Amino acid sequence: MNQSSVGVAITGSGSATPKVTLDNQGLSKIVETSDEWISSRTGIKTRCLASPTESVTDMGAAAAREAIAMAEITPAELDLIILATSTADDLFGSASLLQEVLGASKAVAFDLTAACSGFIFGLVTAAQFIRTGTYQNILLVGADILSRWVDWSDRRTCVLFGDGAGAVVMQAHGPSDRLLGFELRSDGSQNDCLQLAYQSEAKELIPGVSVSKGTYQPITMNGKEVYRFAVQRVPEVLSKALFKANMRTDEVDWLLLHQANQRILDAVAQRLQFPDHKVLSNLANYGNTSAASIPIALDEAVRSGRIKSGDVIAASGFGAGLTWGQRFSNGEGDCQI
Ligand code: ACO
Repeated sequence: MNQSSVGVAITGSGSATPKVTLDNQGLSKIVETSDEWISSRTGIKTRCLASPTESVTDMGAAAAREAIAMAEITPAELDLIILATSTADDLFGSASLLQEVLGASKAVAFDLTAACSGFIFGLVTAAQFIRTGTYQNILLVGADILSRWVDWSDRRTCVLFGDGAGAVVMQAHGPSDRLLGFELRSDGSQNDCLQLAYQSEAKELIPGVSVSKGTYQPITMNGKEVYRFAVQRVPEVLSKALFKANMRTDEVDWLLLHQANQRILDAVAQRLQFPDHKVLSNLANYGNTSAASIPIALDEAVRSGRIKSGDVIAASGFGAGLTWGQRFSNGEGDCQI
């Protein structure tokens, strides 16, 4: 528990996904794969794909509007917007345009890039601004369109990802802090396990002066290493955050992991002795939506009434970087459900 007098609470959530879906059967017409292989290895059945005219900003705005409405504030009251994304519409950042689209004229806005850990890193970042008394109302959006960056001829990766956006409103909440503990980690030594990397191509401007005019390359992944990393590191960091929050596993109501792969969810839950019914999972319907996966799953669980007032949620993101992070929150009075 922090020592300041200002606590943090999530007071609204929202989500938005593209209308167009591609199921495993459809994928098997694109690459040599099958519903049986994808379902048994990943738990994914279908995913939503953004059309060429849809944008991260538009999807993020749709999710944000729901979260703002649930929090019963207006966009004009927002002090800060953090857009967690690895697939911004504009490499300079898309948060400012999101601010404009929402009409959140007072809000400072910036992008935060930490791949599939982006939402958790964003939550912790936003909490610092609230705890220090700097800002009162913060919109955090996790949104990604990974389908833009998938190699659609690579069956090892293209079956895993989908597009979507999720959002929460975080507000100053008197002295009681609903963020019970957190732990963030990065390890660049395994950076090459999962990349969407810029590939340089030299262009000579004048003799002796060359610049790079390359492009970003489709996602590459060492699936086995990423799997090993996730099932080892996530339980570790989760245990550390639990310790910091002075809580036991059996006091946690929901395990809300980044929705990467059902086998990862199952292995982490098993290591921590979380029963299946406490593990939130929606990846059968969406695949891995990167920074959007945790807020989409959170929003669905809140709106369906699964997450109830007073519930304790352990959320963990993990992904490229490699990065991973863990956050505990007490749902009491959180999202107005
Ligand atoms: N359909 C059919 N066969 C396939 C497919 C597919 N879509 N993909 C791979 N295969 C084949 C391979 O070619 C290989 O065949 P071979 O033995 O003839 O060479 C065989 O299946 C086994 O391939 P592996 O890569 O060894 O498969 P593995 O059992 O490791 O499963 C998987 C792959 C599901 C990706 C697994 O490694 C995994 O879950 N890793 C974690 C990945 C992940 O979750 N990444 C995202 C997390 S981080 C983030 O969110 C950014």
